[in-house]
Amino acid sequence: MQNENSFEQFLSQKDEEAWSAALATLLRSIHEVDRNATQIWFAFYPLSLWQALAHAEDRERLAQQLLLQGDYDLKHQIDRSHAFLYGHRFWPQVKKAIEQHADSFGQSSSISLADQILTVARRVANDLKKDESLLIGITAVAFMTLQQTGLAAFTAAPGTIHIDRKHANKSPEKILRDRAKDDSQGLLGFLRTVNKQFTITHDENDDKAKYKLNDGQDLAWGAAEDRSRDWVAIDPRRSEGPIPVECRSASCGTCWVGVLGGAEKLADVAAREGKKIKEFGYIDTAEPKPLIRLACQAQAGGAVSVVIPPWNGQFGKYLRSLKNTEERAPGAQPAGGRIEQTDAVN
Ligand code: FES
Repeated sequence: MQNENSFEQFLSQKDEEAWSAALATLLRSIHEVDRNATQIWFAFYPLSLWQALAHAEDRERLAQQLLLQGDYDLKHQIDRSHAFLYGHRFWPQVKKAIEQHADSFGQSSSISLADQILTVARRVANDLKKDESLLIGITAVAFMTLQQTGLAAFTAAPGTIHIDRKHANKSPEKILRDRAKDDSQGLLGFLRTVNKQFTITHDENDDKAKYKLNDGQDLAWGAAEDRSRDWVAIDPRRSEGPIPVECRSASCGTCWVGVLGGAEKLADVAAREGKKIKEFGYIDTAEPKPLIRLACQAQAGGAVSVVIPPWNGQFGKYLRSLKNTEERAPGAQPAGGRIEQTDAVN
């Protein structure tokens, strides 16, 4: 790309594997309050999908082919996409530190991606007199945001925080305690075997963003009962409550969510959910209780905190076919203009 500064050039050489390795190195140093949130954010904004769209001959056509709906472009949400991370409250300082890092990048070019993230996080933590573990996740997110948006757009964003003062003042310990809480089932509730109800939180920065469901119901089922707001006005994909849904049978991929807290209280991923979530491209794991779930399939047996991505699509098969093409013919351009030859969409 023309006029890239040297930091952008450094980042543009980082692929999904390089980022996975960096995150694996950083993960143990990220505070518990943001460990799941950081992994969820990286699942919500996959580098390989952004690269496929950036290299496509016809980006709009590819987006249609992959059934992308909602706002999948980080450029529109540079300051906002990470509001569910605790580290979001330090965004103005992290953003500024990264802009300074990009300006003086010459001296850092031989340092690994993970070490650069740690260095910037440490600098901000020292300035703010905070524990550096609280800054590492949001700094990694900022690096990836810059990679996907470019330095000019990153710098042009205002650098504002998108949570109110009350929530910004919550401590990490309080947030972790809230996530661990389960609903009281009332006096003698321990004797209850039916009619247990649990609270699902779908935005930790909004005290009213909660709904109830019955024991064993899937996350999408409970959401449909919530008519507290005009959800469609907030997001046209939300035609049945706060969780976007279409098929309710693990066929469309509309209802994916990240699980910030309580993943262990959801039923294990069944064979169909596991197969389809990989085909959609959201996550590729054999873990029984992963951090990304299909809300229409994940049955709750306790209180859970989720975060809803602003978009959905079906891109897993397409990205795998691109990767296979690249492995067979290294250096070949991704086949962004020849999507009809792939089996991206059933
Ligand atoms: S609503 Fe279609 S996959 Fe869940």
